[in-house]
Amino acid sequence: MFARVTSLGVFALHGFVVTVEADISRGLPQFELVGLPDSAVKESRDRVRSALKNLGFSFPASRITLNLAPADQRKTGPVYDLPILLGVLAASGQIAALPPDAAFLGELSLAGEVRPVRGALSMAIAAQNAGVRTLYLPAENAAEAAVLPGLAVYGVREVRQLLEHLDGTAPLPPVPCAPFEQGEPLVAADLADVHGQPEARRALEVAASGGHNLLFIGPPGSGKSMLAKRLPGILPPLTREESMQTTQIHSAAGLLGADAGLMTVRPFRAPHHTVSPVALTGGGSVPRPGEVSLAHNGVLFLDELPEFQRTALEILRQPLEDGKIVVSRAAGQAAFPCHVMLVAAMNPCPCGYLGHPSHPCTCTPAAVERYRSRISGPLLDRIDLHVNVEPVEYEALASDSGGESSAAVRSRVLRTRRIQQQRLQQWGVSCNARIPDAQLRAVCRMTPDASRMLAAAFDRMGLSARAYTRVLKVARTLADMDQSELLSSAHIAEALQYRMLDRSLGYSL
Ligand SMILES: Nc1ncnc2c1ncn2[C@@H]1O[C@H](COP(=O)(O)OP(=O)(O)OP(=O)(O)O)[C@@H](O)[C@H]1O
Ligand SMILES: [Mg+2]
Repeated sequence: MFARVTSLGVFALHGFVVTVEADISRGLPQFELVGLPDSAVKESRDRVRSALKNLGFSFPASRITLNLAPADQRKTGPVYDLPILLGVLAASGQIAALPPDAAFLGELSLAGEVRPVRGALSMAIAAQNAGVRTLYLPAENAAEAAVLPGLAVYGVREVRQLLEHLDGTAPLPPVPCAPFEQGEPLVAADLADVHGQPEARRALEVAASGGHNLLFIGPPGSGKSMLAKRLPGILPPLTREESMQTTQIHSAAGLLGADAGLMTVRPFRAPHHTVSPVALTGGGSVPRPGEVSLAHNGVLFLDELPEFQRTALEILRQPLEDGKIVVSRAAGQAAFPCHVMLVAAMNPCPCGYLGHPSHPCTCTPAAVERYRSRISGPLLDRIDLHVNVEPVEYEALASDSGGESSAAVRSRVLRTRRIQQQRLQQWGVSCNARIPDAQLRAVCRMTPDASRMLAAAFDRMGLSARAYTRVLKVARTLADMDQSELLSSAHIAEALQYRMLDRSLGYSL
């Protein structure tokens, strides 16, 4: 007897339809699994056999052949447990044939419970594109898949529950389709707690307004980490499209959590400086996204920047520029998007007090040089705003009132972002940091004074071509904050000043 069950697989973020074909013929008892399965899929055999026995079904004592089609696509992970079990049951006549427009996926326990899998959203998207109408998947993944209109989703906790639904004895209710709702940021940490630091606060607002990368340099305890952690609270909410991408990445990494639907808050990832290059960029034999992709459409915060392994930082150069990272493995090439705002913090020297108005620095020039050389010029070149964070003044710290609240700053950021969206949506980008190169000149028109100032600064500061484009983008954001169409010399001057600091500290771009 022969049976066919529709299922789904996922490689990186790419979901695809898999047809599980089960054939039971006479011969010595044997269980053959073909169709490029990896070792986790091969282990399905044992899980399915135990689950069948524990559910009270008989395991056919015949020759069972299972094929996972298409045969040239590598199958990974335990998602095929449930369709394989259904295939064996249908082919041995223990259940009726399965509906052709329904797809099934899920890992099984030996007792027949259905366990959650990674990448459910990517698989649900593939199912919808392939014309599948009903999707049965682990209950814990159901909320994630129930965001697609037109796809009926059923969450299954146990195989028995599914079988009773299929034969009509106890129908399951479908999971209601959850429309996307924009969420407010979690304001556990408010900018109102930060006293003083007007320049650093301004830079944080500029970065949030245009999606620019930011580096804070300053002595210990001046509030660098504190400021950076308050960035998510002033960013605009995720759009549905952004949320779909970011949720797919978190789902592929298995980080979404049970019963979670689409993410509504921008991710803020702060990997420790001991992070390995692979954990940062993604990889593994079955490619998984790294920290930079998990921060897609959000913030990647690298605190204590010089303490990161140099190789880990250098690997970030290309993804920061392209907004995607491609991992090549024997199983194939995996591409993960990574449009992030990079925010980094560091001290100016190993002791932390170089340039401090009252605390002497104890570092030798060679030690300072070594410390700084851990961050390469090309990486700094990709950071638009370099900000010197001064020690907090006593009066500011001791005053009763802190600074402006996150909510007030955020409302300005939202207004500036709206201006950008209107201008940039025709090219499919949402913020000034991502203005396409070809449109840069048209989008960044300057007053004559501004263009003279930029020309003079280009030669004097020895800016790279990249730094030039980034100065223009930051100036565009500053002009948008002022609701001005033309870039003025004041905007150019402020944007240039954000690139001066690294030079005054001895970096050369
Ligand atoms: N501007 C500030 N206003 C209010 N409190 C501050 C400010 N700066 C620092 N603090 C206090 O000091 C603590 C340490 O600040 P933070 O961790 O941000 O310092 P840092 O600049 O990152 O230092 P390090 O270089 O050592 O990492 C904060 O948790 C906060 O209590
Ligand atoms: Mg810190």
